[in-house]
Amino acid sequence: MIRTIAVHGYRSVRDLTLELDGFDIVTGANGVGKSNLYRALRLLAGCADGSVISTIARDGGLASLLWAGMEQPSRDVVAGRARAQGTVRRGPVSLRLGYASDALGYLVDLGIPPPGHSPFVNDPEVKVEQIFHGAVARPGSLLVDRRGQVVRVRDEAWRTLDWQMLPQQSVLAEAVGLEAAPEIATVRDGIRSWRFYDHVRTDAESPARQPCIGTVSPVLDADGANLGAALATIEFQGDREGVAAAVEDAFPGCTLAVDSSDDGRIHVRLRQPGLLRPLSTAELSDGTLRYLLLVAALLTTRPPGLMVLNEPETSLHRDLLPALAGLIARAARTTQVIVVTHAPELILALAAHGARRHELVKDPGGTSVAGAGGLLDGARWAWPTR
Ligand SMILES: Nc1ncnc2c1ncn2[C@@H]1O[C@H](COP(=O)(O)OP(=O)(O)OP(=O)(O)O)[C@@H](O)[C@H]1O
Ligand SMILES: [Mg+2]
Repeated sequence: MIRTIAVHGYRSVRDLTLELDGFDIVTGANGVGKSNLYRALRLLAGCADGSVISTIARDGGLASLLWAGMEQPSRDVVAGRARAQGTVRRGPVSLRLGYASDALGYLVDLGIPPPGHSPFVNDPEVKVEQIFHGAVARPGSLLVDRRGQVVRVRDEAWRTLDWQMLPQQSVLAEAVGLEAAPEIATVRDGIRSWRFYDHVRTDAESPARQPCIGTVSPVLDADGANLGAALATIEFQGDREGVAAAVEDAFPGCTLAVDSSDDGRIHVRLRQPGLLRPLSTAELSDGTLRYLLLVAALLTTRPPGLMVLNEPETSLHRDLLPALAGLIARAARTTQVIVVTHAPELILALAAHGARRHELVKDPGGTSVAGAGGLLDGARWAWPTR
């Protein structure tokens, strides 16, 4: 289980450590930085598939993703008694992302090239990457330590795995000789299993409204294109009762029909009381289709190490939220779940299923966890110096 996630310098998230329970809700008012935290986690996941640098570039470059406030805001600035002022930077430009789990932890520190080294002065590069045992990266708990282009691993003693790792490449995505460094492969495979669902399309032209090719599909595509195949997979080899219960909970009296046609395509239809024929996905309301997408995502036959849902309640009527909470709770029995939401009904219903609530707040010092900031808070994370 992932115990801690830590983000430093990503948009409004200047410095945040979040302790997780396994089934967690991240909430807070509009604009406090919930989606920023979600995006930071996605970026962290991008380290495992090699997409992190290109994602940063696509999002406008490192400069636009970095915390735009003071490097070390004073108490008066945080309390709103003084205005933020530009000062001479003491530390390097740095975006840091990491997590710790019961098994291994990983962190990455991204920065910009030293002056004069590259024509691409704003092109982000990996400065430090570490894999460690336990809750915090300490010298004694390190297993992999990458500094610039040099990657060292520790078994009996430290040895160098690579002298020439390209600055734009992450150890997780690019390291070779992994049979000699199994912890890199373990972390990479763990992160690659993480799944993120954020506003899957349900508009009239959305892929989820079309029949799809029937292939075994344990994972719902990010755009929902394989909805029929994913539901058929669950009905064939997974939690069939869970699907029926989720549909009945949300739409009493309705049943789902997932059938393949002669051309091998799978059609999803919803039988509803009072209608002479079932309605196809093309005919369903946005909210109904979105709920079915969530059913397919959450009751997956291949549970990931971590599932993160950003505002899953979007376009669902509040009456549906208890059913959605039940569905998410069912998934949380087999996978770690983080739900980012500000819908009070969903939060209450998830909390009734045992989810732990973390309230984010934002002040001129950035996004933080409400109630944190005591002497012991934040003590369970440490960033390495470069
Ligand atoms: N580079 C940056 N530096 C500092 N703050 C930033 C930066 N970029 C965006 N922000 C702040 O982040 C906030 C938006 O955060 P985010 O989108 O995560 O909010 P949210 O909690 O998801 O809100 P909503 O509930 O409306 O979706 C804005 O208040 C904006 O001021
Ligand atoms: Mg948001």
